[in-house]
Amino acid sequence: MSGRILICGASRGLGLGLVRAFVEAGWEVLAVVRELRPASPLDALRTRHPQALQVIACDLARLDAASTIEAALHGRRLDCALFNAGVYGPGHQDPRQALFDDVGQLFLANAVAPIRLAQCLADQVADGGVIAFMSSQMASLTLARAADMPLYGASKAALNSLLRSWQAQLPRLPWSLLALHPGWVRTDMGGEAAPLSVEQSASDLRQVILDQLGRRQCAFLDHQGQSLPW
Ligand SMILES: NC(=O)c1ccc[n+]([C@@H]2O[C@H](COP(=O)([O-])OP(=O)(O)OC[C@H]3O[C@@H](n4cnc5c(N)ncnc54)[C@H](OP(=O)(O)O)[C@@H]3O)[C@@H](O)[C@H]2O)c1
Repeated sequence: MSGRILICGASRGLGLGLVRAFVEAGWEVLAVVRELRPASPLDALRTRHPQALQVIACDLARLDAASTIEAALHGRRLDCALFNAGVYGPGHQDPRQALFDDVGQLFLANAVAPIRLAQCLADQVADGGVIAFMSSQMASLTLARAADMPLYGASKAALNSLLRSWQAQLPRLPWSLLALHPGWVRTDMGGEAAPLSVEQSASDLRQVILDQLGRRQCAFLDHQGQSLPW
């Protein structure tokens, strides 16, 4: 099938890989980036797919990001909305050294902004569609794998918590609401030692998202569609 997807955080890494995976599969893609850099890989992709790929420039952490995106949609309905943008936070990852600016930025970018955007844009997502967030296995309190990156892990746990709170506020789920773990992927954030390529992870995640169309469930899934404990 094909449809229309919004992908936030599309300038590089997994977001860019997901834009490529969906547009090459015949989907219409609205790609949100902080700024469109001329001669960037996203710009080249847009030149190759001028009808199918639209780029929207906005900083997702801004309070007016949802209205910027909504204006760019011009009333078009989305089959999927994928909130992928994220940051690692301070390199030291040490709560004892954490400053208000670092931690405020981290939790805003990774947890509050994606949920706020999704809540503001949810009416644009078709019944039976998918609203997905790029979480991480580091978010799982049960697995407790974030010892090496506790601040980052806490920000993703906060994302999952906000997602579950939103689910609990809804009388029924009109769409699937997903927290996704992409695997450990070779990107600027994942580093060169990561075992998964962007292409592999993006291809897997595309399939996971497609499989969730029409299911109207809330789930925490890895890139192979396996459930993770919250
Ligand atoms: N790589 C992994 O192994 C891994 C594992 C688990 C989870 N994840 C998650 O997967 C997602 C993508 O990771 P990645 O590895 O592709 O990271 P990345 O290479 O560092 O890319 C991060 C993306 O997020 C965008 N972004 C960050 N803050 C933004 C903002 N305020 N407004 C607009 N865009 C913003 C960046 O845009 P700019 O280019 O403008 O900075 C960039 O496109 C993140 O949420 C990450 O936490 C990654």
